Amino acid sequence: MWGGRFAQQPDDAMQAINASIDIDKRLWREDIEGSKAHAAMLARQGIITKEDDAAIQAGLDQIAAEIVEGRFVFKPALEDIHLNIEARLTERIGEAGKRLHTGRSRNDQVATDFKLWTMRASREAGDGLRALQKALVKQADAHADWVMPGFTHLQTAQPITLGHHLLAYVSMFERDRVRLIGAALEAAWECPLGAAALAGTSYPIDRDATAHDLGFHAPAANSLDAVGSRDFALAALANLSIAMTHLSRLAEEIVLWTSPQFGFARLSDAWSTGSSIMPQKRNPDAAELIRAKAARVGADFAALNAIIQKLPLAYSKDLQEDKALTFGAFDQFALSVTAMIGMIETISFNREAMRTAAAKGYSTATDLADWLVRELKIPFREAHEITGRVVRRAEELGVAELAQLDLNEFQAVDPRINEAARALLTVEKSVESRDSYGGTAPERVREQIARWKEMFI
Ligand code: ARG
Repeated sequence: MWGGRFAQQPDDAMQAINASIDIDKRLWREDIEGSKAHAAMLARQGIITKEDDAAIQAGLDQIAAEIVEGRFVFKPALEDIHLNIEARLTERIGEAGKRLHTGRSRNDQVATDFKLWTMRASREAGDGLRALQKALVKQADAHADWVMPGFTHLQTAQPITLGHHLLAYVSMFERDRVRLIGAALEAAWECPLGAAALAGTSYPIDRDATAHDLGFHAPAANSLDAVGSRDFALAALANLSIAMTHLSRLAEEIVLWTSPQFGFARLSDAWSTGSSIMPQKRNPDAAELIRAKAARVGADFAALNAIIQKLPLAYSKDLQEDKALTFGAFDQFALSVTAMIGMIETISFNREAMRTAAAKGYSTATDLADWLVRELKIPFREAHEITGRVVRRAEELGVAELAQLDLNEFQAVDPRINEAARALLTVEKSVESRDSYGGTAPERVREQIARWKEMFI
């Protein structure tokens, strides 16, 4: 394709380092779509004939069929998907095929194809998160009032509801979804096609037409920027990486909850693995792998960022490595989301174990302090002090839960504490009382669930 200037063939290793076809063949759909829009525009502008355009359109459709049916032979000697398709087109339709590359370059071609791919992949990643949100909301609905310990510093803090905990992730994934859609919209803003190699072209092309045909808002305003920039991919990877971070946190909780020490949850057989030597084991491998894949996706972002950082304008071949990183990140993400949906849909929770753990560590102490403030108008700091003494008393007596401590013991610390106060110190009463907007009370959790369900329609 560019051999005219050279007397010798490239070295084998030169070909090997240069070829990207094994990776970028995934762009075939976008490449054909872009070429079809380009050829149609060339014909409308009188740059190629209508007959040539018709031959190109038909030829590209046949190539698409060849690829779909697995009959297309991808050749590393032809470097990349762009040259592979163009060479095959010329093989099939002759002369007309050689006219397709008028007024464009592989530089604007690849930027356009890759943008189209990233736009679609980002939207699909968002759809994946939506499916995961639905699975989480379903579980939250089934467990809206199941009590579990809420942690800060991974120390028991206050009782919360499992529904509330699961919905925290639904909120996180909603922001991730919006960010991914944002990345897709941003990529759709400007179309690189027609920027040509770097400086634009002398042919009377219609860049508005190709931009709109391909679903972009407008043609890219600066040809150097159009061919030399990949921040659309960088933004997608950053957003993907943040979503992976959230998946990883949920995965981490699954690892903790399913450990025998916590015993809060059990993964289904389909999502557990055994040990070859310890027959009792049920390992959460998928959750652990999601944690690891989150690190990989973050590294993909860091690698692409580092590649772009030191490039002068406009295109440099370094940019060819953008696709392996981006495709890899989206693949790992899709697999992680699928696995997470599988785990969430089939995980079972142990109500008793969670409730017992929720009561441990005097988790309702704040409720007593709040009662003292509310009913006796004691300043909070003082209430904190009184409650601290009650907790110490319970600890001395080896009573594990404040709700089980004898009323006399409360009154020995402060005679104003009555049975009504003591009755509030169960974990159930505790979660019911936290009914401020966004709080953990089952009533509030059900409101959140209703709101999500409305959004999902
Ligand atoms: N395969 C190349 C890439 O992905 C296409 C652009 C090549 N351009 C060039 N001038 N060699 O970046």
